[in-house]
Amino acid sequence: MEQKIWIDGSLVNKSDAKVPILTQSLQYGTGIFEGIRSYESEDNSFVFRLYDHMVRFTESAKIYRMNLGFTAKDLSQAVIDTIKENGLKSCYVRPFAFFSDETVSLATDSLHVSVAIATVDLGKYFGSNAHKGLNCMTSSWRRINSNILPVHAKASGNYLNSCLASTEAKLAGYDESLMLSGEGYISEGPGENIFMVKNGVIVTPGMEASILKGITRDSVITLAKDLGYTVMERQIHRDEIYSADEAFLCGTAAEITHVRSLDRVVIGDGNAGIVTQDLRDNFEKALSGKSERYKQWLTPVY
Ligand SMILES: Cc1ncc(COP(=O)(O)O)c(C=O)c1O
Repeated sequence: MEQKIWIDGSLVNKSDAKVPILTQSLQYGTGIFEGIRSYESEDNSFVFRLYDHMVRFTESAKIYRMNLGFTAKDLSQAVIDTIKENGLKSCYVRPFAFFSDETVSLATDSLHVSVAIATVDLGKYFGSNAHKGLNCMTSSWRRINSNILPVHAKASGNYLNSCLASTEAKLAGYDESLMLSGEGYISEGPGENIFMVKNGVIVTPGMEASILKGITRDSVITLAKDLGYTVMERQIHRDEIYSADEAFLCGTAAEITHVRSLDRVVIGDGNAGIVTQDLRDNFEKALSGKSERYKQWLTPVY
């Protein structure tokens, strides 16, 4: 059966969910989106931090003065309905809102907004070699900052910056890029937040490094503190990553994936370190519903 896409309150066939070439958001990147995962568990499937994702979605819309016409609660239910309709267990969900009028106008104030939810069958974002760790490079592209584009909005246009950085890394033979902030400190990957571990202390850049406030990042910080680790949010110099004991990227798509090297400097012994493994194990336990403490992060699908 053909997969369905939820659009403006109705489920339609994927082949019917199309937009014209002159759609304002297609031309100018004014759409906003989310990336969410559902995980199959022993007796159900759970969407990880669904409401938090939909709250971020509504905040992105607010920043772009986009009237969605749906609340975070409505859209959370729509995500569940779409996964159910498509009969999926583990999947990636892509809510997307865009200015759907056909126009070459730049001002969006009077434009009509459409909201869509699509599901994608997505395995490991970094593929089957992810367990070997990622060889990263420092990107020649600096991470955007909020004087230029609002970094806390998950807006399509922001991802021009990410696409350039990711493509540059791939063409240079690396797995992923790491971008510096305008001030030259470590910011984040094109679609992931970064953590490093030094002498047992977990460190990650804070908001001043122009990061997206990742929901996985927030989950990792919560798990780490609950496990008794010291977590610091502070500026990180690029060379601190070279000499870190461990480093990992995290995000909904990337999950927790360790960084093997940065600019060909091997981090630690190149393998996932003890702290990274501990956090990953506990993260996986939380999202599979095996951890009572983090059950509030999960929304059952069926
Ligand atoms: C630029 C950027 N940073 C960080 C993240 C991680 O965010 P989250 O954990 O909410 O998926 C993402 C992914 O959405 C991203 O696109």
